[in-house]
Amino acid sequence: MSTEKWLALEEEGGKVFLVQIVEETIKIKGLGVFNPAELLAEKQVGETVVIGQKILTVLTPRLPELYRGMKRRAQTISPKDAGIFITKLGIGAGDVILEAGLGSGGLSLHLARVLGNSGTLITVEARDEHAEVGLENLNRAKNCLEEFPIHHHISGDIVDIAEQVSQISQGVDGIILDLPNHETAINAVVELLNPGGRIACYCPVTSQVERAWQTCEDNGLVVEWAGELMERKWGRASKGGIRPVNGPFGHTAFLLIAHKR
Ligand SMILES: C[S@@+](CC[C@H](N)C(=O)[O-])C[C@H]1O[C@@H](n2cnc3c(N)ncnc32)[C@H](O)[C@@H]1O
Repeated sequence: MSTEKWLALEEEGGKVFLVQIVEETIKIKGLGVFNPAELLAEKQVGETVVIGQKILTVLTPRLPELYRGMKRRAQTISPKDAGIFITKLGIGAGDVILEAGLGSGGLSLHLARVLGNSGTLITVEARDEHAEVGLENLNRAKNCLEEFPIHHHISGDIVDIAEQVSQISQGVDGIILDLPNHETAINAVVELLNPGGRIACYCPVTSQVERAWQTCEDNGLVVEWAGELMERKWGRASKGGIRPVNGPFGHTAFLLIAHKR
């Protein structure tokens, strides 16, 4: 268990700030300069606090707060898509999961939560400036979650790192690829997948799904599921009742899951 104490502060409207409770004056982007210990150490979850012009509610930093309050650089995988990856790959305690690219670590936060202390997460990222953000988000999660997996980060291109992964673990139970070129990535790491394991591809455009599908089959994997998840939020209507809220019905990505039988 970490000795660091963190709290989440939710602004009206939903923005979340993650704050480490330290006994010194610090600057937090969007909140300003203040001493977290002086202002927050005695606050209970659910209480409000005023910082500058902002009225904020104190919350426990669980996975939803960690995700909403994370630092962002590369585009993140949303909870909707992270959830289906976790269930369709059957990811849980004790698994070894390989993920590329780490990016901002949006998916990694979800993986860390379900892997717990007995799991292993191996992240790969070609751009160190992206990894810096993703690793900082994972470090915060390590300090806030009750359990956290063994984590290895490999800096480099996924096509070059199979040997390094096999030195960490002889095989992996799942591979998740969120990067532009799935074919070369699948070809490079498919041998690492344990029999029974699954590979998942996150594909913003259809041409990526088609190529990933073909490459999985060329490598003897069975495509188990491909498709997309649509999410429609509901809210209170101004004249009473509950209904789907107005707003864009957005697209995230097409997903593909293939099984090594
Ligand atoms: C969209 S971001 C990943 C976001 C991440 N899944 C999340 O939820 O925050 C894609 C990342 O893949 C990295 N990338 C692209 N090609 C790569 C490769 N061949 N090997 C390793 N990383 C790669 C990019 O630098 C970028 O940071």
